[in-house]
Amino acid sequence: MSIPAQLSHLRLPVIGSPLFIISNPDLVIAQCKAGIVGSFPALNAREKDGEDIQLDAWLKRITEELDAYNQANPDTPAAPYAVNQIVHRSNTRLERDLEICHKWKVPVWITSLGARVEVNEAAHDCGGITLHDIINNTFAKKAIDKGADGLIAVAAGAGGHAGAQSPFALVQEIRTWFDGPLALSGSIAHGRSILAAQAMGADFGYIGSPFIATDEANAVPEYKQMITESSAEDIVYSNLFTGVHGNYLKPSIAKAGMDPDNLPVSDPSKMNFGADREKPKSWKEIWGAGQGIGAIDKVQPAADLIARLSAEYAAAKQALCNG
Ligand SMILES: Cc1cc2nc3c(=O)[nH]c(=O)nc-3n(C[C@H](O)[C@H](O)[C@H](O)COP(=O)(O)O)c2cc1C
Repeated sequence: MSIPAQLSHLRLPVIGSPLFIISNPDLVIAQCKAGIVGSFPALNAREKDGEDIQLDAWLKRITEELDAYNQANPDTPAAPYAVNQIVHRSNTRLERDLEICHKWKVPVWITSLGARVEVNEAAHDCGGITLHDIINNTFAKKAIDKGADGLIAVAAGAGGHAGAQSPFALVQEIRTWFDGPLALSGSIAHGRSILAAQAMGADFGYIGSPFIATDEANAVPEYKQMITESSAEDIVYSNLFTGVHGNYLKPSIAKAGMDPDNLPVSDPSKMNFGADREKPKSWKEIWGAGQGIGAIDKVQPAADLIARLSAEYAAAKQALCNG
């Protein structure tokens, strides 16, 4: 099994996953300094007309802060960071964002929705690697055919646009033909679960929702609080809000005046990542989260959450070895 150099020295085998709106440079830098890959969707960096390009400014800051950190901490260097590209026809910024990522030599490129040869080539051309997220084995094969270096298996129970398959089924099927880097996404919120992902055949846990309840996350306090108070039973899987199935917090849907247990079904052609994207006002308050948040009981600095996961991971490993 081959792990590319970029991902071979993580202090904890975890990728902090990209979160629409929520991931920002503060969170990414904190994740990387604590030894896991930090990431953000390129679309989170937005400027108004006439302003400097935010993505450029964010990549400059992340690069410079991590470089300075590495010089001061040569024994515990930061993990590399990743940028997520939504490869979808409605993302009109894609070409520009790829150029900016190429300029800053982004080390890890996470691609979602579309698998495209030219995106993989752009990453490779500047020394980066690509990980493509998929929800089934057919999409996984397509992604590797198009030149992705690795895969993110998004299983049932993940936050955002989750899959519907069991993590066991997904990883088992992928591992029959693919021995490259594989991250597992969906409900991982305890160090023990990171070890379980590895035991199943994945290389990394891919963790999103737990990072919503961190000081650095760009989310309103009520959202962070709802993560700490909710558990798997408070999550509903619906395609109403974006046209594609995803997992959402039921209490946020109820607060917006809808019945989370009786949501109408939507249409995938409504998916839109362009600048003209519009949502009914109340839907801004519909908050995404995966089923794993029962393991999150407080809002804390990202470094403290990662320290907790690391301690749990080490303890679980030791308990298994001694068993
Ligand atoms: C609020 C929210 C926003 C998300 N936005 C994105 C995104 O912009 N791009 C992406 O690739 N994945 C996105 N995801 C999915 C995550 O990257 C990841 O697959 C998922 O959070 C992992 O499951 P977990 O939340 O149970 O840890 C999002 C997830 C959540 C909860």
